[in-house]
Amino acid sequence: MNTIKACIFDLDGVIVDTAVYHYKAWKRLANSLGFDFTEHQNEQLKGVSRVRSLQLILGWGGVTKTEAEQEQLATQKNNWYMEMVNQMKPEEILPGAKEFLTTCRAVGLKTALGSASKNSMTILEKIGITDMFDAVIDGNKVSKAKPDPEVFLAGAQALGVLPEECVVFEDAIAGVEAAVAGDMKVVGIGSSDVLKGANLVIRGLDEMTLDKLYKL
Ligand code: BG6
Ligand code: MG
Repeated sequence: MNTIKACIFDLDGVIVDTAVYHYKAWKRLANSLGFDFTEHQNEQLKGVSRVRSLQLILGWGGVTKTEAEQEQLATQKNNWYMEMVNQMKPEEILPGAKEFLTTCRAVGLKTALGSASKNSMTILEKIGITDMFDAVIDGNKVSKAKPDPEVFLAGAQALGVLPEECVVFEDAIAGVEAAVAGDMKVVGIGSSDVLKGANLVIRGLDEMTLDKLYKL
């Protein structure tokens, strides 16, 4: 018998492709500090919090900064990032995302967002899908970053369902690990070579169906 009652979606890389904006903003910051930042390094920051991302970047550049300086740098990066986010349009929603959310809701599945981003609400508003989620759990509401399951467990709780009744959609390794740690099923968005712990890996939500969901 299928017991799936809810779907919890990561935002960056699942609903929208904001990685390119994160990349541009981090690169600008790294360049301002006198070193470069590659797309390959950016890949390693998927699902990683803002503060932790900065620490990794400073490490790659061989630069040491005080905590106060780090706070300033993180704010600067976020300001540059938000300049791009504020230009976002509904057309930037990834293929199949809105359709799959609509399908889920039409059959009575609950939907939640489970993202590390503190900018989640702004992004949802920019792409016009805020009302497609019964709950939004973002970086402002949790204290432990993925791979800790806190963000997804809080999502399940907000929806009034059990963890084992949830399916998580994630593009980051840390996110897949978080879902597994939370005793949830997980659909990886990306490559099966990378997202090894997922129950199913697809390239995007345009490949997702209810049939696949109920077979997990
Ligand atoms: C995650 C992204 O969703 O959110 C990371 O994959 C990002 O790249 C993190 O660092 C935090 O986002 P924000 O918007 O709070 O800086
Ligand atoms: Mg992501």
